[in-house]
Amino acid sequence: MKAVVVYESLWGNTAAVARAIAEGLGPDARVLSTAEIRPDEATDADLIVAGAPVQGFTLPSERMRAGIRPGGHPAPDLAIPLLRSWLGALPAGHGRSAAFDTKFRWSPGSAASVISNHLEMAGFAPTTKPEHFLVTGQTGPLRNGELERARRWGAELRRSFA
Ligand SMILES: Cc1cc2nc3c(=O)[nH]c(=O)nc-3n(C[C@H](O)[C@H](O)[C@H](O)COP(=O)(O)O)c2cc1C
Repeated sequence: MKAVVVYESLWGNTAAVARAIAEGLGPDARVLSTAEIRPDEATDADLIVAGAPVQGFTLPSERMRAGIRPGGHPAPDLAIPLLRSWLGALPAGHGRSAAFDTKFRWSPGSAASVISNHLEMAGFAPTTKPEHFLVTGQTGPLRNGELERARRWGAELRRSFA
């Protein structure tokens, strides 16, 4: 199975979840940021797992990105391409998909459901429902146990795929 995990992350929380999911998927799963992956690199994937933070109750956009101030500790990676742009440029394929996001526990909205719809429209049928992983503040950290949960979710994805 060719599995690719692709993510957008400003402070590293979604990146950490993506890496944990890839661990759960197994040693042959690749994990790449939107800065590292080309649109055509995933077209022949059997499984695309894609994730992003929730911003403004949905998948991050240019407008949201423009409103985030640079600097601070830790500083956001404002150069990382939007997952929204990568999904828009994704050529049609015929694999399966799974989508996740990172967000606050109390917040409505979802980036993962938007990601899931994009992937489905590109021909990658969802293999499970969108999943959310929780942060405790804008820059993180993740809530205790979320990386373990992400590893388990990755392992479940592999099993459901098999
Ligand atoms: C401009 C902005 C808007 C945000 N809006 C939401 C939101 O509507 N709901 C939510 O749960 N979290 C929101 N967040 C928090 C992000 O989900 C959080 O920064 C993200 O999970 C951190 O992941 P990262 O380190 O991978 O970027 C927002 C963050 C920013 C910077």
